[in-house]
Amino acid sequence: MSKIGIFVGSVYGNAQHVAEEVHTLLNKHGLFSDVFIDPTLDDFKNASSLLFISSTTGQGDIPPNLEFFIQDLRDQFPLLEQKPFAVAGLGDSSYGETYCGAGRQIFELLSELQGKPITDLLEVDACETLEPEVEVVGWIEKLLSELK
Ligand SMILES: Cc1cc2nc3c(=O)[nH]c(=O)nc-3n(C[C@H](O)[C@H](O)[C@H](O)COP(=O)(O)O)c2cc1C
Repeated sequence: MSKIGIFVGSVYGNAQHVAEEVHTLLNKHGLFSDVFIDPTLDDFKNASSLLFISSTTGQGDIPPNLEFFIQDLRDQFPLLEQKPFAVAGLGDSSYGETYCGAGRQIFELLSELQGKPITDLLEVDACETLEPEVEVVGWIEKLLSELK
């Protein structure tokens, strides 16, 4: 059975909340998914499709909970052989050049690993919305057939 891996990078809980809402949505549609806050390479390899939902911290940086995992991916470079992926970045455009930096880094890395992006990076701007989950859930609803 296909299993969607939802990988979360979050400092203050916004992205985690979004991921939980997405998990509920997928359940409603009969799609099996797991939310990973502290993922391992096996979680990554075993998922049939990959969904990353990550905020940005510092100056365009990956949240600490995903930092070592992303470093492991860079070091071990497990090729994805066209495994489908999508990335939603939560950020704040007032940070200027580092806006959604973590989401952009993750999108680039998954592309380098030869995953297949099912859509462009979604950038969710905290200056524009107080309900990032609404934007991300709406986005996922349009991608359901490709995530299966
Ligand atoms: C210390 C700090 C640094 C941040 N740095 C950036 C940044 O470089 N780029 C960006 O787009 N957003 C940045 N943000 C905004 C967060 O990514 C945004 O508020 C996000 O919704 C937080 O989600 P989280 O609660 O899941 O961590 C920063 C926020 C804080 C508090």
